[in-house]
Amino acid sequence: MALAMLILVTVLAATSALEPTPQLCLRDAEGLACRCTASLTELGVHVWDVDCSSRNISSLPTELVISQEARSLDLSRNQLSSLTNEQFSHWGNLEELSLSRNKFTSLNEGAFWGLANLRTLDLSYNMLTILPDKIFNGLSSLSNLNLGMNWLQELHPQLFSSTPHLDSLILSYNTALGKNLMKSAECLAILLERNLSSLSLNNMSIEKIPDGLFSGASQLRYLSLADNPLKIVDILPASLESLNLSGINVEVLLPGDFISYPKLRKLQLDRLIHLRTVQENAFEGLTSLEVLTMENCIQLHEFDEFSFGSPNSAPVPLKRLSLARSGLHTLSSKTFLPLAPTLEHLALQGNPWRCDCKLVWMRQTNFSLESSEYLRCFSPEKHHNELLLSVDLKDFTCTHESARQKTDSEVSTVLSVSLLLACVLVAGIILIGLWRRGLIHCVPRKVVGRYFQVTVYPNSSEMEWDDKDLDHIWTMPSADRQIVRGAA
Ligand SMILES: *[C@@H]1O[C@H](CO)[C@@H](O)[C@H](O)[C@H]1NC(C)=O
Ligand SMILES: *[C@@H]1O[C@H](CO)[C@@H](O)[C@H](O)[C@H]1NC(C)=O
Ligand SMILES: *[C@@H]1O[C@H](CO)[C@@H](O)[C@H](O)[C@H]1NC(C)=O
Ligand SMILES: *[C@@H]1O[C@H](CO)[C@@H](O)[C@H](O)[C@H]1NC(C)=O
Ligand SMILES: *[C@@H]1O[C@H](CO)[C@@H](O)[C@H](O)[C@H]1NC(C)=O
Repeated sequence: MALAMLILVTVLAATSALEPTPQLCLRDAEGLACRCTASLTELGVHVWDVDCSSRNISSLPTELVISQEARSLDLSRNQLSSLTNEQFSHWGNLEELSLSRNKFTSLNEGAFWGLANLRTLDLSYNMLTILPDKIFNGLSSLSNLNLGMNWLQELHPQLFSSTPHLDSLILSYNTALGKNLMKSAECLAILLERNLSSLSLNNMSIEKIPDGLFSGASQLRYLSLADNPLKIVDILPASLESLNLSGINVEVLLPGDFISYPKLRKLQLDRLIHLRTVQENAFEGLTSLEVLTMENCIQLHEFDEFSFGSPNSAPVPLKRLSLARSGLHTLSSKTFLPLAPTLEHLALQGNPWRCDCKLVWMRQTNFSLESSEYLRCFSPEKHHNELLLSVDLKDFTCTHESARQKTDSEVSTVLSVSLLLACVLVAGIILIGLWRRGLIHCVPRKVVGRYFQVTVYPNSSEMEWDDKDLDHIWTMPSADRQIVRGAA
């Protein structure tokens, strides 16, 4: 009913105000049936939001206009593959345009000319490989641009020369662009110098940040580099307030890795599946940090008790810390000393906790523990799979046995390593002896084929498991947990 009214209103408004150009909000011969919503601005002006998404539109009439007052046009999820020059020039007041999820492989240089008020342009989920260097000419108000999920190769240095107000840019999932980021570094550096404040470069196969890329970035506040094969935490702008490094390939977080981000409020380090160790002072210097998440870091076994600094370092004002579904067996209560005044929410569920005297603090803590139904003991055997918070306090003990087991295992490691070394040595001596007597010949090995690189990808369910998956994992017998994780 409301819709019918709207369409009626639209028809009346459109027919009375305009010459007989195609009426976008009518179900006409072209099959265009868009939904138009009117609203009043603060200044009392009528504006229209035109929604033509998911209409199976494969071409646009050359002169397509409904009203000068259209503020937004959504053409996402259609079959569009080309635009004429100045396609939207009759829509001079347009502030938002979405062409996401269409079939564009390229765009005319003049496709967006005449859109001087356009602030948001969404071209994501297309198949664009190249952008003409003048394509954004005249878009002098452009502030948000989404080019994510395309096949872009390279950005021309002058691409953004006439969009002085560009504030937020998404380039995520343009793999070819990321592999050769050097080629586009000049273009990006110019943008960053012009005070870009938000940049997303997720999953672009970036192995290394080009030198100096961020040297002029003084206002960058949000940066996402998630799911790139970066091996170290590079030096990034000190202006950052939110940083997403989830899914990168670091193996260890080193002292001072985040020392130069005094304004950072949110840090995401989820799915670091290669991360094993967080060293002392790794998070030192994060004097504004409020949220830190390190979820699904399945190999993380060591979290140093001075990761957030020693008792004399500047406090880290964390409010929420999540280490959920990682590989921790134990964690010292001292870890939280520098956080105690501010920390409100702590997520520790889904780790294979060893419930002994070292974890007794967890049973008594005043922090609010998230999803405590998944906070369970993994060992000792006696308490396997028991809710940590319902295990009796007096059972959090370190027995002589467990202490001895530890030394035993250390001794046995040393023994087996020396035994192995001795074997290798003896075998070597025997082989040399045989060879000298001519009893064995060395024939050069034939090269059959050669792998330049072998990459083993974790399966995606392994990287993204959630609390609900814990139900399945925890019901398995203790020894199988590692295996289940790999196979899930
Ligand atoms: C979409 O349009 C094409 C022709 O452009 C047509 O063949 C197809 O059947 C349409 N699909 C739907 C769901 O209407
Ligand atoms: C960027 O921001 C800085 C600091 O606010 C300012 O001095 C500079 O003029 C800005 N640059 C541009 C191009 O707006
Ligand atoms: C990254 O992108 C590739 C291909 O585009 C995809 O297969 C992979 O799942 C993505 N990784 C993540 C973590 O989204
Ligand atoms: C960080 O990156 C991951 C992976 O792309 C994404 O799921 C998450 O939403 C990002 N976080 C923010 C705040 O953008
Ligand atoms: C928890 O709070 C109570 C009362 O506020 C306090 O006495 C106790 O020491 C606190 N426990 C810990 C472990 O901080």
